Amino acid sequence: MTRLEAAPLTEAPALLKGNLRSARCETQRRAIGDQALFFRAWLRRPVTIGAVMPTRAPLARAMARAAASIGCGAVVELGGGTGPITRALIDSLPSPRSLVVIERDPAFHRLLAHRFPTLRILYGDAEDLLDMLDADNVGRVSTIVSSLPRVGWSLGRQRRILKQCFSLLAADGVFLEFSYGAGSPVPGILVNELSLVAHRLERLWANFPPATVWGYRRVRAARTAVQVLASG
Ligand SMILES: C[S@@+](CC[C@H](N)C(=O)[O-])C[C@H]1O[C@@H](n2cnc3c(N)ncnc32)[C@H](O)[C@@H]1O
Repeated sequence: MTRLEAAPLTEAPALLKGNLRSARCETQRRAIGDQALFFRAWLRRPVTIGAVMPTRAPLARAMARAAASIGCGAVVELGGGTGPITRALIDSLPSPRSLVVIERDPAFHRLLAHRFPTLRILYGDAEDLLDMLDADNVGRVSTIVSSLPRVGWSLGRQRRILKQCFSLLAADGVFLEFSYGAGSPVPGILVNELSLVAHRLERLWANFPPATVWGYRRVRAARTAVQVLASG
């Protein structure tokens, strides 16, 4: 029996308030711990980590909203970090079990595996995406949610990762990524080369720094979507 169940009715509201307060404290403690862990990881490997702090909740929720609105296949998250987007995806997706997370930092990978024990959290580099997911038998993928840091990456590395993403995605699948600012995070040259269409899905002016959620589809899939809309 919990303390709340055992308490006389007159004490129940106070205990409930106490429980809520301690849950809020726990969330704040975890957020501060995550920020410290993230910042230390960034100091050690700034190019790999690519940001000084984890993605804030409103932006994480916007990414998850976009993912939840697309198809019904598996969702692959690239670069889980301390898990803000992972958590938002779990809250938004109809079946969080179809979520696979890839993380190449060992400390973040351990943390994610501990925090989300029912998810498939794979340790490795997004450059080996196909091999990793082949072995994991993930099935049809409708959405890839990326927060990989691109700054300082060669075009070749970005191309290798994107090509694998689009060979993994279903024909109408979507690759989601956010940028701080208004520009496309995927360089225009790769958008053209891989015959993609880029859409700004949502702008978050109130985020710090302001951010934009982007979706990328293959040109043919985008045309089909427009045709369906036009004929409807
Ligand atoms: C900008 S952080 C985002 C972390 C988290 N998703 C968030 O929103 O706070 C980028 C994450 O991608 C991971 N990462 C960087 N390069 C990677 C790669 N090639 N393959 C897999 N993960 C990678 C980093 O370790 C880091 O956790």
